[in-house]
Amino acid sequence: MARRALVVAFVLGVATPLAAAAAYTLLGLWSVRAATSPPWLEAVLARHALHLATRRQALGVHNPLPDTEDTLAAGMKVYHDNCAGCHGEPGKPSHWGTANLYPAAPQFSDHPSSLSTAQMFLIIKYGVRYSAMGGWDGELKDDDIWRAATFLSRIRTLPPAVATTWNPR
Ligand code: HEC
Repeated sequence: MARRALVVAFVLGVATPLAAAAAYTLLGLWSVRAATSPPWLEAVLARHALHLATRRQALGVHNPLPDTEDTLAAGMKVYHDNCAGCHGEPGKPSHWGTANLYPAAPQFSDHPSSLSTAQMFLIIKYGVRYSAMGGWDGELKDDDIWRAATFLSRIRTLPPAVATTWNPR
């Protein structure tokens, strides 16, 4: 009797949802539109998978650059020249990065990333699959990627000389 209950629980709890998900996919019913948000379960699973993978891969990776004014000023320039088109600047959010784009590009000036500098380095260098965040490996030198990541990690606590250029308001 207990075994039968186990089989029923397995069929209802695991096999049926998996078969339903497979059928949904194979019938082409899964929406792939960037202009709409996905069902919450898909969004939660994808976000968790990304954060867990990034956290694991960043273990033992350390920023080789000092957290100085020079590094932050250079990181701001890398960001301005390459990233602001999608991630925006103070008072200038990116329309392209936020409208009809899923996942939207975070607007760091208003919503700094909660990732560590090493986690950001890995995301910038290798990108995020199935998103508009491409990998900058080969496009930017590793040092410039570290500079941009260091800048983003200090975006709310920049030294005055860098802060006034970043946000002259
Ligand atoms: C074409 C648009 C585009 C450009 C250009 C771009 N990004 Fe992104 N970026 C994105 C999108 C979209 C995401 C969100 C990916 C996701 O959540 O899966 C993202 C995510 C990130 C993240 C992760 C933030 C977090 O908290 O999860 C970092 C860090 C980042 N980008 C830094 C940069 C830097 C630095 C540059 C320039 C060297 C850059 N990006 C250029 C679109 C872009």
